[in-house]
Amino acid sequence: MSIQIDTDQAAKIAKELYDIDGKVIALTGELDYNFKIKTDSTSYILKISRPDVNVDYIQFQQELLSYVANGNEAIGVPKTFPDCDGNFISKTTDDTGNPRKVRLLSWVDGRLWSSVNPINDNLLFSLGVETGKLTNALQGFDHPEAHRELPWDVAQAEWTYDYVNLFSEEQQKIATYFQNQFKEFQDEYQQLRKGVVHNDANDNNVIVTNDLIDPKVKAIIDYGDSVYTPIINDLAIATAYAVMDKPDALAAALPIIKGYHSQFPLQDEELKFLYNLIAMRLIISATKSAINKEKEPDNEYLLISEKPAWDVLKKWIEIDEHLAYYSFRKACGYTPVPTESTFTTWTEKQNFKLNSLFPTLNFHEVYCMDLSVASPWLGNASEYNDLHFTNYKINSLQEERSTSLLIGAYDETRPFYSTSAYQKEGNSGPEYRTIHLGVDFFIPSETPIHSFYDGKVISIHSTNNDKDYGNVLILQHQIDDGIYFYTLYGHLSTSSLKLCKTGDAVKKGDLIAYIGDTNENGNWNPHLHFQVMLDLLGNTGDFPGVGYPNEIDVWKSICPNPNFLFKEEGMDAADEINNQEILSYRKAHLGKSLSLSYDEPLKIVRGEGVHLLDNRGRKYLDTVNNVAHVGHEHPRVVRAGQQQMGILNTNTRYLNENINQFAKELLSTFPKELSVVHFVNSGSEANELALRMIKANTGQKDMIAVEMGYHGNTNGCVDISSYKFEGKGGSGAPEHTHIVPLPDSFRGIYTGKNNGAEYAKHIQEQIDNIKAKGRNVAGFICESILSCGGQIELPNDYLKIAYEAVRKAGGLCLSDEVQVGCGRVGSHFWGFQLHDVIPDIVTIGKPIGNGHPLAAVVCTQKVANGFANGMEYFNTFGGNPVSSAIGREVLRVIKDEHLQENALKVGNYLKEGLRKLQQDFPIIGDIRGQGLFLGFELVDENKNPLREKATYLANRMKDFAILMSTDGKDNNALKVKPPMVFSQENAEELLSRLRIILNEDFMAH
Ligand SMILES: Cc1ncc(COP(=O)(O)O)c(C=O)c1O
Repeated sequence: MSIQIDTDQAAKIAKELYDIDGKVIALTGELDYNFKIKTDSTSYILKISRPDVNVDYIQFQQELLSYVANGNEAIGVPKTFPDCDGNFISKTTDDTGNPRKVRLLSWVDGRLWSSVNPINDNLLFSLGVETGKLTNALQGFDHPEAHRELPWDVAQAEWTYDYVNLFSEEQQKIATYFQNQFKEFQDEYQQLRKGVVHNDANDNNVIVTNDLIDPKVKAIIDYGDSVYTPIINDLAIATAYAVMDKPDALAAALPIIKGYHSQFPLQDEELKFLYNLIAMRLIISATKSAINKEKEPDNEYLLISEKPAWDVLKKWIEIDEHLAYYSFRKACGYTPVPTESTFTTWTEKQNFKLNSLFPTLNFHEVYCMDLSVASPWLGNASEYNDLHFTNYKINSLQEERSTSLLIGAYDETRPFYSTSAYQKEGNSGPEYRTIHLGVDFFIPSETPIHSFYDGKVISIHSTNNDKDYGNVLILQHQIDDGIYFYTLYGHLSTSSLKLCKTGDAVKKGDLIAYIGDTNENGNWNPHLHFQVMLDLLGNTGDFPGVGYPNEIDVWKSICPNPNFLFKEEGMDAADEINNQEILSYRKAHLGKSLSLSYDEPLKIVRGEGVHLLDNRGRKYLDTVNNVAHVGHEHPRVVRAGQQQMGILNTNTRYLNENINQFAKELLSTFPKELSVVHFVNSGSEANELALRMIKANTGQKDMIAVEMGYHGNTNGCVDISSYKFEGKGGSGAPEHTHIVPLPDSFRGIYTGKNNGAEYAKHIQEQIDNIKAKGRNVAGFICESILSCGGQIELPNDYLKIAYEAVRKAGGLCLSDEVQVGCGRVGSHFWGFQLHDVIPDIVTIGKPIGNGHPLAAVVCTQKVANGFANGMEYFNTFGGNPVSSAIGREVLRVIKDEHLQENALKVGNYLKEGLRKLQQDFPIIGDIRGQGLFLGFELVDENKNPLREKATYLANRMKDFAILMSTDGKDNNALKVKPPMVFSQENAEELLSRLRIILNEDFMAH
C-alpha cells in the first residue's frame, strides 16, 4: 500500500481542512510530503506527514515556528496557519485509511540562494544578519525533541570518524586533520553557549529577494533539522555552504561573520572553534554523500554532490587556523591578534634604540625612501627592474645623505609585487600581496647585527633560491605577561648561519648576524629586512614579508610596525591622502563639468604596458585607453621625453632636427598626396586648425558632420560634434552644421549589408540643403570608425560616395583619425585606408604622443598653400623638440614592436572569441570594429538597447580588474580599444571574465 500522497489528494486535504483552493505543485521533502498551493491571492506550503510520524517532533516544529514568528525580531520565517477548527496541527486520514498530520505554512517568495549569481559581499553579509537574527529569535526557546541524536549536528560529528575509509587518501588526510582538531577541543567546546538552532542554513534553505543587483537574504526556511547544540554551529553551517565555489573561501566567510555578529555578538571563545566547525560540517556532508554513494554507486548525482564540500575543504586546510581566527576577530570588530594591545602597551614602556641593532653604524637620522607604487623616485618599471640602476640610485642617495640610514618603510604598497609570483585568485579577480610588512634597512654588507633585546633563536637557515629573504634568522622574545613576539632578520650573509643555532639563548647586545651581499638580496643593494611578528602562523624559518590589501588589517596586527619598538622619527612612510579628501577638493576647486569613471572612483598611480595600477597595487587590465598606444609609460617613449626635456624645449622658431625627423617619419605613413604637417597639442586643436584650413581654402563655413560624431572640446569642434550639441547640455545643431544619419548597419535607419550608398545619399541631401540657402559646403568631417557612436564601422563605399559628392560641390574632406589612427585598425596604418579614399586633411591626436599632449594636422600641398595666406601660424607648444622626440619614438616603437601586426592578429582573435560568446549570450547583438578598435552592443531579442546591462557589465568587469567603457547613441555598446601591446593572453582573460559576468543574474534576466 503506497504512503505517497498525490496532488489530487493534497488539493482535497487543503480544501477540507483549510478551505483553500489553488494550483497544487508537489515539492521534495525528506520527512513530510510537501505541496505548494497557489491561490489567486497568495501561496502556501501544505505539509502532510508520513503515517508513522513522531507526533512530538511535529509539535516541536510547530512550537518552534510560532516562537520565532511571534518573537520581537523582524525575521523572515514561514507563518503557521490553523485549520478551520483552529488547530495548527490537523489530523486527517488519507485515501487508503492512513492517519496523517497536516500543517499549513505561508510560502516565502523569492529565489533560492543556490540559484543566485553572483553571491557578493553584501549578500553574504545579509546571510549573516538573518542567521544572527534567527539566533536571537530562538533565544529562550527549548523543547525536549530538540535534545536528540542527529547526524547533521556538528557537535555530534564524532560518528564521521568511523567512515574516513570511504575517502581517497588525500581526502582522508584532510578529514583526519580536522577530526583530530575537533577531538582535542571537546572539553572547551562543550562549555560554549548552547541553544536550539536552525542547523541547516544550506544553499537550498536560504531565500533571497528578487532584486538582481543588490539582493538580500529574506528568510531561512526548513526547520526540520533544528537541534539543541552550541549556538556557534549555526553560523558555521551557514558559512560552510555559502563559501562553496568561492576562490577565496576565507574572504567570503568574513562578511557572513560580520553580519551575524552585528545581530548576535559573538564571543572570542566561539570564534576560536569556528574555523574547525565549518570544516566539520563539510566533513559530515561529505561522509553522508560517501555513504549514499556506497548504497547507490550508479547514481550520478551522488557522485558529484560531494565535490563542492571537498573543494572547500581542500582550500580550508591551506588556510592557517590562527590567520582564520584573527580574521574572524577582525570581522567582529575585535583586535585581530588578541595579544596586540598588550604588545603595543609594552613597547610604549620600552626604550630600545635603533642603533642597538647595528651599533657599528654611525647615522644621525633615518631617511625613508619612497619605494611605493606611486613613487616618482622609483620611476618607470624598466628602471626599477634594472637593479644595477636602482642600486646606483640608492648609492647616490646614500652619498648625498651620508649621515642618514636609508630605509624602506613598513606598510608601504610596492609595485614589484604586482606580479604572478605574488598573485592569488580572489573572489573578484586577481589580487597581489603588495604591502610590505617589515622595514628594510639599507646598510653595507657584513655589517654586524646585534640583538636589541633578550630572546631565543627559533631558526636560522638559508632560504636562497626559495623565498625572498636569502638567509633568515628568527628570534623569539618574551615580554612581562608571558606573551611572545618574534623578530625576523632577512638577507643575512652566509657566515651568519654559523653564528648561532636553533634553541640558543640570546642576550641583549649579542652579535647575532651579518648583512649579506647583493647575492642574498635578490641582487638589490645589501639591506636588512626586519620584521616583527606576534604569531609565526605555523611557519618555520620563513614568514611572508608582504600582505594582500584585502587582508592587510589582519596582517598588520600579526606583524606590528617595527617602529613601535624604536620610535625613530622619520621611519614611517608618509600618510597617503585618502580618496575622499581628493574627491572633495576636486569637487570644490576643479572644473565642475569634469566627470569620473565608476561610482567608486579609482586612484590610479602607475601605468605599465596594458595595465594600470591603483594605490594598493591592484593591477587593472586597461581596454579603454587607446591613448597609451604603445603601452602605458613605454620605457622608450618615457626615455625619449626625459632625455630631450633634459637638454632643450623651445618652439618652432629655431631650427631643430626632431621636428623634421618626426614629420618625415609621420608623413611616410601616408599616401604621397598628404605631404604637409602642422603640429599641435590636442585632437581638438587639430580639428580646430583643420576647420580654419577648410574655411580659408573654400571661403565657406558650412560643415557636414555625422550624427554622434565627436571632434573636440573647443567652440568650433563642439559646433560640429553632434555627440555634444545633441547630448546633455547641448542646444542643437548650429546654423552652419549639417548632420547626416549615423551609418549604423545594425540598428540605424538602413540595416544589413551594402547600404553605403543609401547612407551616403544624405550627404548629397545636405549639400542641396546648404545650396538652397544660397551658400555652399565647406567640408565634410568623419571618423573612420565612429567611436562615440559605439565603434560603428562605416559601410562599404560610404566614404567614397561621400567624398565624391563633397568634392564635386567644392568642399574638402577631413578624416578624423584622433581615435583610430597609427596602426590600430590592424590591416592599415590609417582608418581611411580601409575605404580606399584619400582625404584632403587628416587629424591625428591621442595615440601619437602615447599620453603626451601631441597632435597633428596632415594635409595636401594645395590645402596647406591655401591656408598660408600671410597670417603667421604660431603655436607655442606645437611641434616643440620634446613633443617631436616623443612622437617620433612612438612611431618607431610601433614599427619595431610590430604593433600594427599585433593589432590585426589579437584583434581578430578577440573578435572571434566575442563571436563565440555571442552564440551563448544572444544579448550580444552586434560585434564590430577592426584590429584593436572593437565594440559589441547589448540588445534584447527585438534589438532594443540594453543600456543598464552595458553599465552593469562595465562595472562588474572593473570589480574583476578589467577596465572597459560604454558608449553609443543608447550607451549600450561596450568598447575595446586597449594599448596596442594587448596580447592574446590579455584577450583570453578579457573573454573569460566577460563570460563570468554575462552569466550573472542581472545579465541573464
Ligand atoms: C574622434 C575624436 N576627435 C577629436 C577628439 C578631441 O581630442 P582631444 O581630447 O585631444 O582634444 C576626440 C577626443 O576624444 C575624438 O575622439
